[in-house]
Amino acid sequence: MAEQVLSNQALGGTTACVSGGIANSTAPMVKLSVDMIRPPVNLDFSLYIYAKGDKTPRLYRDSKYPLKVEDIDRLKQSGTKHVYVVSNEIEAYCDYLKETVVEDTAIAPTVRYEALRQATRSVFNNAAANQLIDEVVDVSEYLDQKTVDLICGDETLLADLFQVMTHDYDTFNHAVNVSTYCVMIAREMRCFSQESLVEIAQGALLHDYGKQYLPSWLLNQADPLSQAQKETVMEHPKRGFEELCSREDLS
Ligand SMILES: [Fe+2]
Repeated sequence: MAEQVLSNQALGGTTACVSGGIANSTAPMVKLSVDMIRPPVNLDFSLYIYAKGDKTPRLYRDSKYPLKVEDIDRLKQSGTKHVYVVSNEIEAYCDYLKETVVEDTAIAPTVRYEALRQATRSVFNNAAANQLIDEVVDVSEYLDQKTVDLICGDETLLADLFQVMTHDYDTFNHAVNVSTYCVMIAREMRCFSQESLVEIAQGALLHDYGKQYLPSWLLNQADPLSQAQKETVMEHPKRGFEELCSREDLS
């Protein structure tokens, strides 16, 4: 196997082993926080970075090469906050996050919460965009069970979570935030079982499912909506409900 060593100023003068050449990639990339990679580890997916001046990400570490603690330390010291994974390897990344971060109670709840979002975001968005309803429901079940576990498992988590929530116009982030708020409020009411909390979380996560039937230009329109556009947008809860209400696996 051909091996190449990249000298890279952006890595603080350190080197990174890659195989098969520099391999600038034009495939869609998913951005990840460096904090989510926890060496020493053998990853089933390759990592890419943007070095200074690069317009496309370049291969930092091929999946065949183990990642050491020093590697990530060097990346952080060089100011690199994000690494990238090719979108067709995102499922391997999700599996890694679920197995090594989300499930590890020794890791701070806020880090696990962020990992949970990252692990499910791409799968959820992809499934919703392609109207893969079974997959949307599967991902939401996992996400909601773990959200409830995290919120109910740590008394100090509530205030910290507010700092982790990402307030933007992304439908997934919005839905996860709504779901998290709902679980927090329902938990404070102290009249719901753990099972009911999961159902509440799932209902909240899926509350905007009908938005997938709206054109993205309409969802992202900066100008005020016309009356006709408002009426179209207001149809989304009904449409989502109609799609989901016949499912026996949802309450
Ligand atoms: Fe909403």
